Amino acid sequence: MPLTFRKLHPQFAAEVSPMALRQVTDPETLLEIRAGMDEYALLVFRNQHFTDEEHLAFAQRLDGQLHTKTGISALQKSRLGNEALADVSNLNANGEVYQADDRKRMYGLGNRLWHTDASFQDPPGRYSMLFARVVPPVSADTEYADMRAAYDRLSDEMKAQLEGLRVHHSIAHSRHILGFEFSEVEQEILKGAIHPLIRTLPRTGRKSLYIAAHASKIIDWPLPEGRLLLLELIEHATRPECVYRHSWQVGDLVIYDNRATMHRARPYADTTYRRELRRVTSLDVEYDIEQAGAAPH
Ligand code: OGA
Ligand code: MN
Repeated sequence: MPLTFRKLHPQFAAEVSPMALRQVTDPETLLEIRAGMDEYALLVFRNQHFTDEEHLAFAQRLDGQLHTKTGISALQKSRLGNEALADVSNLNANGEVYQADDRKRMYGLGNRLWHTDASFQDPPGRYSMLFARVVPPVSADTEYADMRAAYDRLSDEMKAQLEGLRVHHSIAHSRHILGFEFSEVEQEILKGAIHPLIRTLPRTGRKSLYIAAHASKIIDWPLPEGRLLLLELIEHATRPECVYRHSWQVGDLVIYDNRATMHRARPYADTTYRRELRRVTSLDVEYDIEQAGAAPH
């Protein structure tokens, strides 16, 4: 089935022609979607009707193994009972909107900082597939920025300076920014991961800036200097004209490449209105779709 892509932003992000992804199993179409991801880094599919199982199964067909540790799942059990399915909602265990002072709500507010999913893990996240089940009657959008374009816009001097640098990412760091403290046991579980600051995307050879609110230090650099550089790069990468803002409709599936984009949730009246998204993220490890074929996982 030939797909068509309608660009949503001058640099990246496209809406794909209508299709029911839960029924897409043929390798040709899956390869076309991956080629679209290589080009646009973010694809929007409208009007999907996924059950949780269909969402998980599609994610595996498209990109192989799934991540099970993209948040505090290491510390807390998910409401949804499957560690590969992230509960991106403002609902507590009883399905009620969080009270303003609920610690889990506070923790989830970390999504409002610019980040890329699971960069504090090794392997980190590759594709995130975020599906909208319930959206509020007010805008509760997600913003995305293209880290390949951000790299391309750097001066040659800056590109040379950044080459070879390595960055420590930790979810404890992004939560420290919001004022959270962690016990020593928690710190040990959340100790983080080290990744290159510049990543080369394997299939296209394009380079991208791999940064996030989780980025806590540049290895071998003095802490303040490293943090200042990271802050400067985040500012550079997220100038308003470089950002695509997604307004959610029920049934939207947004697939974004965490190696090539950053994102953040925008604020809304979250103690009033329900918002229920589910996310599945693939592991950034080798996956040969042609060999995997259409076999169910
Ligand atoms: C996520 C995330 C943003 C949002 O699910 O990883 O950052 O707007 N979500 O909910
Ligand atoms: Mn996220």
